[in-house]
Amino acid sequence: MDQTMERAGNFLPRVDEGSANPNAVDRRVVTLTAPASAAAEQYRSLYYRLERMRELRPMKVVALTSAMPGEGKTVTSVNLAMAAARANPERRILLVDADLRRGGVAATLGVRNKTGLAELLSGEVEVRDVVRRFNSTRLALIAAGTPPEEPSQVLASPRMKQFLKAVREGFDEVYVDLPPTLPFADAAILGHQVDGLLLVIRANVTPGKTVHQAVEHLAGAPLLGCVLNGAEVHASPYLKNYEKQR
Ligand SMILES: Nc1ncnc2c1ncn2[C@@H]1O[C@H](COP(=O)(O)OP(=O)(O)O)[C@@H](O)[C@H]1O
Ligand SMILES: [Mg+2]
Repeated sequence: MDQTMERAGNFLPRVDEGSANPNAVDRRVVTLTAPASAAAEQYRSLYYRLERMRELRPMKVVALTSAMPGEGKTVTSVNLAMAAARANPERRILLVDADLRRGGVAATLGVRNKTGLAELLSGEVEVRDVVRRFNSTRLALIAAGTPPEEPSQVLASPRMKQFLKAVREGFDEVYVDLPPTLPFADAAILGHQVDGLLLVIRANVTPGKTVHQAVEHLAGAPLLGCVLNGAEVHASPYLKNYEKQR
């Protein structure tokens, strides 16, 4: 593993053949499938808000979590990373699926999930074996891989720390799709190893109390803010007015 990390600075992501079919991309990856849509615009806004925060302090590794499963961490992570890659083609952007139990990044982007972070953290493969470039974009990604027997142990291991250190050197921006906060200790532990944390909240589904519990769980981690996922577009009066004016 040490050797793996020594070489990790020299990332040459390979193109994944499995990603050649654009139809395999989930249509919810609107930053790619419908870049002119209002939804895609929201992800770009989120990205530019992060950019403004970066003017105040450098933030390379930004992770996303949510109180419960199914709130939209993966859809948000993928769209945010894609928005980043499209906005700054000269930057090296990496998306990492760290939800080892229910990794969804590969399926969302229509690529294979054979090897990924799980295999890397178990020492079976090297970083360069698992980093893939997504289609023709500048976006590099690491899938979750095959769920290990003890995901919490793997994520809390020194190897994960080393991995984050290595990707900090090899990339300009890293987005990490974390496990949900309340069922497991992982997000709270990893939340302390990243530069910023976003809490995804499923609009009209997650109770406020649950969100509060998640925030308490993450105490001390650099929580940047919340992302309200699945809100109705007409809930944004700014957008509605803008559409009317055209
Ligand atoms: N904004 C959205 N609009 C419509 N469907 C969504 C949205 N966000 C997530 N979903 C759907 O909800 C489900 C859970 O989302 P996902 O991103 O996989 O959640 P998580 O990674 O937090 O478990 C998926 O089927 C996904 O496609
Ligand atoms: Mg997910």
